[in-house]
Parts: sequence; C-alpha cells; structure tokens
Amino acid sequence: MKQCCINPSILSADFVNLAAELQRISTADAVHVDVMDNHFVPNLTIGLPVVQRIQAVSPVPLDAHLMIADADRWAPGFADAGLASVTFHAEASIAPVKLARELRTRGSKAGMALRPATPVEPYLDMLSELDMLLIMTVEPGFGGQAFLDITLPKIRRARAAIDGSGMGVAIQVDGGITEETIVRAAEAGANVFVAGSAVYGAEDPAAAIGRLREQGTRTLRPAAAE
Ligand code: DX5
Ligand code: ZN
Repeated sequence: MKQCCINPSILSADFVNLAAELQRISTADAVHVDVMDNHFVPNLTIGLPVVQRIQAVSPVPLDAHLMIADADRWAPGFADAGLASVTFHAEASIAPVKLARELRTRGSKAGMALRPATPVEPYLDMLSELDMLLIMTVEPGFGGQAFLDITLPKIRRARAAIDGSGMGVAIQVDGGITEETIVRAAEAGANVFVAGSAVYGAEDPAAAIGRLREQGTRTLRPAAAE
C-alpha cells in the first residue's frame, strides 16, 4: 500500500535558520510553505523572494499554501518559480478554474483550499482541474490550533466524490494534525497531511514524521492509497 504523505509546515520552524530547519525534515514528502498576506488572514509570513530561496535549498519539493487575497493575480508567480505544488484559496479567487489551469500550464500541480466553513459542493464540478484539494481543519492564519472535527463530514463527502469520479485528486488536511487526529482525518479520506507543531515542536522532527506516516498509512482508506 502506498504510504501517506507527510508535509511539515515551516510555519513552526525557526525562520532565522530556515536552511538548517529544512534539512531536519529531509525524510518528508514535501515541505508545506505557508504564505500569508495579513489581508486574507490576520497574520503575515513570507513572500515570493523568500519562497524562491527555500526552493533553492530545500531537500524536498515545495507545497505552497497561499493564504493571500487576489490569488488570481499573485499565485501564477509562485508556479513560475518552479514550485512542485501551488495551492490557492477558493475564497480568494474570482476565477478558480482559470487559475488552476494557469498553474498547471506553468508546470506546478494545482491545489485549491477551502476554509472550514466553505462547503465543497459548489466546487465538485471543477475537481478535474485540480491535483489536490486542501480541506482546512483549522481557521487559517496560525499554527498550533486544535483540529476541528466539524470538517470530517466534508472530507468524507470530498473523498466520495473523488472516488466516484475515478479522479486522482489528493485530499490534503492542514491544521491541528497530531498522531491522534491524523487517524480521524485519514479515516475520513484525507491522504496528504500537513503538520507544523507536531513536527517542529518535537525533539526529533524526523522521528515525528515517521510516527505520523505510520499512523496515517495504517489508517489510510484503500481508495485513497491508490
Ligand atoms: C495555518 C497553516 C498551517 C499551520 C499548521 O493557517 O496553514 O499550515 O502551519 O500548523 P499546525 O500543524 O501546528 O496546526
Ligand atoms: Zn498551511
């Protein structure tokens, strides 16, 4: 069975020592890079120039999570930087189909994120335009928040729609993922897991990645593992 993907979030890393912090998660599947603009979310992190430097030194592919307003204007630049995957928020895009196509044309995988209260149903017809659906399991903006169980039914509905259509869209969950909550998210149908504090808050991030991967893989639903 395919292993589940563990993408540590550098939001919980030491921003002064990013190069070294990236080396500590070299066994991860990708590094999750949270870009926040203080408009779409009430927090500010890093912009494209810093993301480009991370891209230059990272031992693993980049999975950018853009929590920024006016995604239609700014997201394509991240794909141009050669990132493996670029995820924009549905709530921040006026033309999500056009944007997803632009990301793919520029060579990135296209991801679209939904805040906890945003339903998946209005977007089911555009799943074929996406490589990944990110279902936020906390309100975006900060690391270290508690996992929202109210998002589990949405994960289940998204998994059922994806499996029913035979599409290979990944379901990523982000926020409050621990060795305990990863089991619930995987049972519901998620197969890509972002973990910030659970990885960087651990004494040994590589060991934490291993434990999360083991828990997630054990629970992964067969269809999600294909
Ligand atoms: C929150 C970010 C997450 C965050 C996750 O808005 O999108 O990626 O870093 O952190 P934890 O795993 O600590 O909830
Ligand atoms: Zn994130």
